[in-house]
Amino acid sequence: MALRRGCPAATPAAVELCQLLKGVNTSKSCDNAGVGEGRLVGRARELERLEALAMRAADGQGAVCVITGEPGIGKTRLVARALADWKSQGFDTYAAAAWEMEQRRPFGPISDALRLRDPTAGAARDPVGVDFQVAERLIDLIEERAATAPVAIFVEDLQWADPSSLTVLGWLAREGAQLRLLLVCTLRPDPARAEARALLGALDRLAAPRIELGPLSEDEVSDLVAAAVEGPPADGLLHLVAAANGNPLHVTELVAALRADDVLAADQDGRVGVADGQFPVSLRKTVLHRLSGLPDAVPDLLRAASVLGSAWTVSELETIVSRPAGELAAGLPPLTLVC
Ligand SMILES: Nc1ncnc2c1ncn2[C@@H]1O[C@H](COP(=O)(O)OP(=O)(O)OP(=O)(O)O)[C@@H](O)[C@H]1O
Ligand SMILES: [Mg+2]
Repeated sequence: MALRRGCPAATPAAVELCQLLKGVNTSKSCDNAGVGEGRLVGRARELERLEALAMRAADGQGAVCVITGEPGIGKTRLVARALADWKSQGFDTYAAAAWEMEQRRPFGPISDALRLRDPTAGAARDPVGVDFQVAERLIDLIEERAATAPVAIFVEDLQWADPSSLTVLGWLAREGAQLRLLLVCTLRPDPARAEARALLGALDRLAAPRIELGPLSEDEVSDLVAAAVEGPPADGLLHLVAAANGNPLHVTELVAALRADDVLAADQDGRVGVADGQFPVSLRKTVLHRLSGLPDAVPDLLRAASVLGSAWTVSELETIVSRPAGELAAGLPPLTLVC
């Protein structure tokens, strides 16, 4: 399973992480070009905050920082940029992701980040003791590395991390304040798993820094679109893209769909817009494709809810589908998947 360590390039998400982390400390096979390249739009305040944490960590005041935000909002992209900066400032940087399919692999993301092939090798066979021995060993290793240079560790997608990795992260949050260590984790909002919720609760009690990444502003979306279409965007195009609600992944997907339909053209002022003013076919397909992985009840509900606009309350939804909220909620994934 060579793909596992540092570059589990089997899934699109994995490929994207590897590409975003080019130049950071990941495995060599992460050299594909394309995704995640180009200028980082906005996020100056968040980068400043991360930079301040890094400077304190370099002075021996370690921290664990969690970055939350909906899928595609730019968590990985933000941290990738910060890690690249820290690496050039002399930090020892490590990065790995927790994978949805490996939520039970003990110490998965943390040992991947530290590039340990088998973190349990040599540990006692007693199944209860193994986890603690390995956790201690990993923590010792991080302490050793932080003694020679400031260390930045990025663990992506904490919502899928195994319980043993979460134990190590919890320990580092509690005890790592004396280390030259900045641990940055990304997490989608409202994780379903109890262990991830428990860790978040513990981090809040420790007043660990948290960055909640929101949508890009209108001007930032306009910048992102301008970069994607290689020219100033026309108002009509920006109006269409406003449907993405400032989510950079959705913005870029929408523009890519328009490109695929070959409907983008510059007007006489050089502004790039949708040539024939028609709603492009692949835009519709993009949305349908996104919804296809969800249980049937979700697209049905969204279809009904669409008459209410882009924001609505549960009681409005109850009224429009003539069913009580409890019945609607049964069988639906967590609300964050629907939004
Ligand atoms: N500020 C930004 N400027 C330019 N592109 C961005 C920005 N933020 C995100 N992107 C692009 O949007 C896409 C999604 O970003 P990213 O993968 O960082 O989201 P995410 O929040 O980590 O999502 P997930 O929860 O699925 O891991 C990527 O292609 C990324 O390059
Ligand atoms: Mg991500």
